[in-house]
Amino acid sequence: SLPVKNVQALASEGLKEVPSRYLRPASELEEVCETESLEIPVIDMIKLGEDHPDHRDEIKKFHLACKEWGFLQLINHGISEEFIHQVKTNTEDFFKLPFEEKNNYEQLPNSIEGYGQAFVMSEDQKLDWNDMLLLFVQPASQRNLRFWPKNPASFRATLESYSSELVRISLFLLRAMAKNLGISPDVLASMFEEGIQGIRLNYYPPCKRAKEVLGQTPHSDATGITLLTQVNDVDGLQIKKNGKWLPIEPVPRAFIVNVGDVIEIMSNGQYKSIEHRAVVNPEKERLSIAAFHSPNIEASICPFPDLARKSGALYKTTNHEDYMRLVVASRVDGKSLLDQFRL
Ligand code: SIN
Ligand code: FE2
Repeated sequence: SLPVKNVQALASEGLKEVPSRYLRPASELEEVCETESLEIPVIDMIKLGEDHPDHRDEIKKFHLACKEWGFLQLINHGISEEFIHQVKTNTEDFFKLPFEEKNNYEQLPNSIEGYGQAFVMSEDQKLDWNDMLLLFVQPASQRNLRFWPKNPASFRATLESYSSELVRISLFLLRAMAKNLGISPDVLASMFEEGIQGIRLNYYPPCKRAKEVLGQTPHSDATGITLLTQVNDVDGLQIKKNGKWLPIEPVPRAFIVNVGDVIEIMSNGQYKSIEHRAVVNPEKERLSIAAFHSPNIEASICPFPDLARKSGALYKTTNHEDYMRLVVASRVDGKSLLDQFRL
């Protein structure tokens, strides 16, 4: 990717004009639907437990959330409030570091790991009003510690614990998905054990022309499942529902969970990887943490044979390495990546 100045620096210079590279044409700025009062389903992870008296109802609700929404909020996930608070504080503290220090973790050319921007492919591309620190945390053998902040002092240990907690939750949810889809929970879970986990810390500075920029371009996640935490109380996530942008109001202490392209493919289209975007605030900074979970690198990316047998495979089969190469080489643009895999 081409190096771009981080937006935190741009915003802090008190610039009079927002550079045109960030200003979107009206066609890219479809308005949010103010009248729609729909809320994404809230799923209780304790009730998803097999021995819970409400298990059957909750797992059915989870199935509908994955099918009809591709997004849900997960409560009672077992991570303590204190620990989440620590993760959030570490994230805020990282972005508060002086630029000279953050730049020690700067992305290398043609790579997305580290501190920088997402997918800057060309000079004429519109840019997101977002800085990120992206780390590949799992499998542990693939960590590049040169990108892991040494400051704040608790950052690395905190991220490591957070990572394993999220892997635990993801595997639990994947098993529940498999059960609902009528495929083997062990087989699906085994594809994600030793899987790839990327954690992306997002920083969106305030923007004077907030309505004309985007924090994240509309996209669906190329990965399996995503667990998102909003760090401060500034909202900005919007999902596309029935052709309209719907703002998400995070439920306190919940994770926002969404189905990614890989699960849409594996479920042969039963579960939906939904387009979403992030908007920014004119006065306040916004921070969030997204954790992406993908199968291990040996796994094939394809519809489960049992599901393909019923209705015919709706997606191509590819190996995970080729898939990842394509993800990294593609411009973020709605569901265009997933469309390449449709049959
Ligand atoms: C995203 O990860 O696509 C959006 C993240 C956010 O809400 O900041
Ligand atoms: Fe996303």
